[in-house]
Amino acid sequence: MTADELVFFVNGKKVVEKNADPETTLLAYLRRKLGLCGTKLGCGEGGCGACTVMLSKYDRFQNKIVHFSANACLAPICSLHHVAVTTVEGIGSTKTRLHPVQERIAKSHGSQCGFCTPGIVMSMYTLLRNQPEPTIEEIEDAFQGNLCRCTGYRPILQGFRTFAKDGGCCGGKGNNPNCCKDQGKDDEQLTLSPSLFNPKEFSSLDPTQEPIFPPELLRLKDTPRKQLCFEGERVTWVQAATLEGLLDLKVQHPDAKLVVGNTEIGIEMKFKNKLFPMLVCPAWVPELNAVEHRQEGICFGAACPLIIVEKTLADAVAELPAHKTEVFQGVLEQLRWFAGKQIKSVASIGGNIITASPISDLNPVLMAAGAKMTLGSQGTRRTICMDHNFFPGYRKTLLSPKEILLSVEIPFSKKGEFFSAFKQASRREDDIAKVTCGMRVLFKPGSTEIEELAICYGGMADRTVSATRTTRRQLSKVWNEELLQRVCASLAEEMRLPPDAPGGMVDFRRTLALSFFFKFYLTVLQKLGEANLKDKCAKLDPTVASATLLFQKDPPANVQLFQEVPKGQSEEDTVGRPLVHLSAPMQASGEAVYCDDIPRHEKELHLRLVTSTMAHAKIKSIDTSEAQKVPGFVSFLSADDIPGSNETGLSNDETVFAKDEVTCVGHVIGAVVTDTPEHAQRAAQAVKITYEALPAIITIKDAIKNKSFYGSEKKIEKGDLKKGFAEADNVVSGELYIGGQDHFYLETHCTIAVPKGEAGEMELFVSTQNTMKTQSSVAKMLGVPENRILVRVKRMGGGFGGKETRSTIVSTAVALAAYKTGRPVRCMLDRDEDMLITGGRHPFLARYKVGFMTTGKVVALEVDHYSNAGNSQDLSQGIMDRALFHMDNCYKIPNIRGTGRLCRTNLASNTAFRGFGGPQAMLIAENWINDVALTCGLPAEEVRRKNMYKEGDLTHFNQKLEGFTLPRCWEECLESSQYQARKKEVENFNKENCWKKRGLCIIPTKFGISFTVPHLNQAGALVHVYTDGSVLLTHGGTEMGQGLHTKMVQVASKVLNIPTSKIYISETSTNTVPNTSPTAASVSTDINGEAVQEACQTILKRLAPFKEKNPNGPWEHWVTDAYQEAVSLSATGFYRTPDLGYSFETNSGRPFHYFTYGVACSEVEIDCLTGDHKALRTDIVMDVGSSLNPAIDIGQVEGAFVQGLGLFTLEELHYSPEGSLHTRGPSTYKIPAFGSIPTQFRVSLLRDCPNKKAIYSSKAVGEPPLFLAASIFFAIKDAILAARAQHGKYNMNTLFHLDSPATPERIRNACVDRFTALGVTDVPDNCKPWSLRV
Ligand SMILES: Cc1cc2nc3c(=O)[nH]c(=O)nc-3n(C[C@H](O)[C@H](O)[C@H](O)COP(=O)(O)OP(=O)(O)OC[C@H]3O[C@@H](n4cnc5c(N)ncnc54)[C@H](O)[C@@H]3O)c2cc1C
Ligand code: FES
Ligand code: FES
Repeated sequence: MTADELVFFVNGKKVVEKNADPETTLLAYLRRKLGLCGTKLGCGEGGCGACTVMLSKYDRFQNKIVHFSANACLAPICSLHHVAVTTVEGIGSTKTRLHPVQERIAKSHGSQCGFCTPGIVMSMYTLLRNQPEPTIEEIEDAFQGNLCRCTGYRPILQGFRTFAKDGGCCGGKGNNPNCCKDQGKDDEQLTLSPSLFNPKEFSSLDPTQEPIFPPELLRLKDTPRKQLCFEGERVTWVQAATLEGLLDLKVQHPDAKLVVGNTEIGIEMKFKNKLFPMLVCPAWVPELNAVEHRQEGICFGAACPLIIVEKTLADAVAELPAHKTEVFQGVLEQLRWFAGKQIKSVASIGGNIITASPISDLNPVLMAAGAKMTLGSQGTRRTICMDHNFFPGYRKTLLSPKEILLSVEIPFSKKGEFFSAFKQASRREDDIAKVTCGMRVLFKPGSTEIEELAICYGGMADRTVSATRTTRRQLSKVWNEELLQRVCASLAEEMRLPPDAPGGMVDFRRTLALSFFFKFYLTVLQKLGEANLKDKCAKLDPTVASATLLFQKDPPANVQLFQEVPKGQSEEDTVGRPLVHLSAPMQASGEAVYCDDIPRHEKELHLRLVTSTMAHAKIKSIDTSEAQKVPGFVSFLSADDIPGSNETGLSNDETVFAKDEVTCVGHVIGAVVTDTPEHAQRAAQAVKITYEALPAIITIKDAIKNKSFYGSEKKIEKGDLKKGFAEADNVVSGELYIGGQDHFYLETHCTIAVPKGEAGEMELFVSTQNTMKTQSSVAKMLGVPENRILVRVKRMGGGFGGKETRSTIVSTAVALAAYKTGRPVRCMLDRDEDMLITGGRHPFLARYKVGFMTTGKVVALEVDHYSNAGNSQDLSQGIMDRALFHMDNCYKIPNIRGTGRLCRTNLASNTAFRGFGGPQAMLIAENWINDVALTCGLPAEEVRRKNMYKEGDLTHFNQKLEGFTLPRCWEECLESSQYQARKKEVENFNKENCWKKRGLCIIPTKFGISFTVPHLNQAGALVHVYTDGSVLLTHGGTEMGQGLHTKMVQVASKVLNIPTSKIYISETSTNTVPNTSPTAASVSTDINGEAVQEACQTILKRLAPFKEKNPNGPWEHWVTDAYQEAVSLSATGFYRTPDLGYSFETNSGRPFHYFTYGVACSEVEIDCLTGDHKALRTDIVMDVGSSLNPAIDIGQVEGAFVQGLGLFTLEELHYSPEGSLHTRGPSTYKIPAFGSIPTQFRVSLLRDCPNKKAIYSSKAVGEPPLFLAASIFFAIKDAILAARAQHGKYNMNTLFHLDSPATPERIRNACVDRFTALGVTDVPDNCKPWSLRV
């Protein structure tokens, strides 16, 4: 076959590619070949949406131009022949005009680090191209495939709701809770608060102004298609044009793989190292795209995208009588919680079926419905019913190698037939199921006697299964309680899982299988009741009715309150105003440059790390011979190549490259350097390493048993513990485990190193929070003085602590490669590498004992904290110190002892993460205070308030609390949340609902501000004023989305009294401000702000004589006058936080400069049968002093809260018993998505609380609000308590155990009932579970 030319359009320009390689994705092509870097790589597996683009094509089957969003990271360029691609650059720019979508996300503060922004913009843009006046629900659905780690989503949704026809805040038309005009109606406080943005400033959307579909492509619409062939380095792609041609190809190449959406194959090739030398794409074949309405159902060609299936079925449901569409509704329910629009637009129904995934969502439904599958090969056709024989094994189907799936017929349901589909995943949106199912019953006419019953599951075996043994026995039986009991008992037998089943969660999955049937049972009962067929069947008790309700979204409502700047403040003084993040417009248009967007240097090479697959082993040999055969191979680097020191890490206990021994899976052993990232991946996979296994310690409990610790025990002790416990009326002991957390910054670690060719000079562009450490680590490794190494950071796509120290893993390796090859070298970690190698938040285990009086007053407390530090110390000691400082949360305990131990394990070293040990310790505190309340039978809020500190109190580390605003936050939050009234409502709800329960909880936080290592509390700034009056500002902090540069410009603008537009921050670099502390510990605004202020004041002093001479200015004249008088217009500033220093030995001194306080009240609803929960409402009152920028501060509060919500309810890292991380990407590791946030999200910044200790009376805000998400955790616990009370006979103990995160598995398992009792699996002692609690 000869290769054809590939023709497609990008942003209206024609692209002709003569050498289209089927392995090249659209993302790689856009970024590297076309230099369009607005489209970002966040995961490469369709799970984050950072790469979203709009595709447009003339759809010959629908006879119209269609626009749809797609993931560029999964779209092979070969699938784009005659397609028009629109990227974020194609819709608007700051140089011309921003598109209204770009403008609104920027102005509504929906872009922090901005890495997710282009993808979100493109999802919204695509929606508007299809639906210029969308509903709020359509807007929310458009983002099911997009993630953001910074904003907490609220501002994005609120900004985009202004496009909604049913209620944005632009027109004030609607009577909806989001309308800004309605917000102030009945609340005086609301009217006092200005708005974070003004929708009147938004330019309007004019759909007629959008770029047109390329006329050249439109002209081709009637031209017959011919078969095409594209040949790449390893893979050939054939685009079949006819069914005959396709079946011919299958005869000639039975091993050829069909590819439609590539959402499965793309992942197998990228992440599972699979190679398919021949791919055949049937997407153009008319028969495979046909949608036919037949006598017995609707028949879909196998290549039909899921979005077409969804639309067709939804139309049918709207048009046909309900009894005919029971199955369709089941399929729609599954598709509702399927992947995002980007995936559903390209993924085919046939692809889902033939992938034969054990957790496919469609297959159980199709099997239960008895869908008809037509299979075809050259000359033959056969139609079979999908039944339990269709999947003979793991990822196998009945298809013969020459056969393909032609079509699927989804049947209409009949009268007397009922169908339901259920799915439970970790996260509702865009997540693969733990258990998923389809259930169908057909009754004999006019009766409740069963004629047919089908119960099919995914997630209960290595394939989709049908519970045939159970269902067969129920024929001719009546639908009643007896049947329910029989089916459950039988399912418990039939749907067994071995205790070490892949995916783990064995008891949960077994319980779900039964719970789903119970839901089906009730649903059918209800429908029978409606149909008046109550004769022999049980009546549905009203208190159980809510169990049948499918998840419904409630209308969102947000309120953000802050204090107006004082009357009389000049318009030019932006301090205290909600100034938009200065880079937001460029982030929204894709112009903002992140590390990997820096254009390629000449002769640039790519590096890929080679890492250990063993947790603890001796390296016996490294064989690179196969790697060297990969095209473009340049070099392999190992410890032997290092010219300086291989020793690295904060405690010098790490190596740049492991030398003889590896101590974790993911430990860096070496690196390959090649011409492209694809070759680098292949070469790295080809490096063969042999090991000799050594015993490994993976878990905290293992480490305790083996006394495997770093350093000695740290302790804070105050009062007389013995006496305290002796006095106590009651003593309770407990244990709490808090799982780790991956940072999941949308931009992974990235470094570019450029050797300068003389005197050992090297320039590094790095995504790091720590320029100083990067510089010193590289200098030490190369053996050159630090003055030869220049580190530059423009911005990061998120950091959250993950780029405080661990970025040096990549930068030292890349610098070595640049040194060795003499060429520029680049490395951006893939998401799976990043998650594997760079560690995250420390898992904590705490054992506590609390003594208290019957009044709820706590008199004694002892907590032993253990953290899983991993294979190096890194920042673990500082993190444990902070944990010990926060073990009191907000409570005064007269007799207290806290100890901390760092467990040395064979996991990747854990590191800094927003909150730095504080959230773990405070969760433990809230857990024991919850125990106290439960034991005393007192309301938890009363016990919390009773134990709360007062102004002037000393903490357990003897720091006096001054300016203690917490009680104010508490009272305001109680009031604004209407806590007491809602508590009653919750109680009533719980009385009326047996299987859904609500919980309510109010939680305070106090967070100490300062690095606990005193000398780190220093910062520098450099200000240059140029002769045109423009100011170049540099300071020691890095911008990772938190708005630091914006706040620094505000500070400089206020001091210099010039508009912010005259001030520019270009980057952070080691040659402008040296020896900077990492941008961390929430203090960057405080310390850099003071340094900026000082530098600006120096400039002002120098300008003073010129101002005096010419008081009316303007600024530019003073500057030129000064220049002409040879006065320096460049100044530095420096700041160190005064009076810090604490001694653990004497428990004296001040670790913190001050504290930030906040309170949150949250309400949740849990589904006791599935463990699902929804966050109904959160009210937060936060003291951030006099906010420098309320939009940024509220953004930090919401973003931190939602990240905390992930920590405490959602994000779960799974490790194998061998210490290998299972969860290495967004498909398995779930961070909060758009739909995870509280439906009502109300944030209020405390008024009139200036903080005299920080710049312009502000307060640090980055980390403190994260812990407030514990209010969701304890609200869930409250709801579970109600569920357990309902099923009292199974739940003797009120102090039940709930570890963090409160996942659906943990929630379901804690709601003990008759189904959980049947779902228990015996675990033999020698069982190796799929995953361990580390
Ligand atoms: C981010 C993401 C989220 C996802 N979420 C879900 C989810 O929630 N639920 C779920 O069930 N799945 C989910 N999936 C899996 C995937 O989307 C589906 O399996 C999808 O329908 C596959 O379709 P495709 O066209 O992309 O398949 P491809 O990758 O193109 O092909 C998949 C397999 O099917 C074969 N094949 C395709 N068509 C035919 C045919 N006509 N005849 C014979 N063989 C054929 C191919 O050869 C290949 O083996 C998700 C995937 C991603 C990437
Ligand atoms: S990069 Fe494509 S979805 Fe994440
Ligand atoms: S702004 Fe969304 S990931 Fe940073």
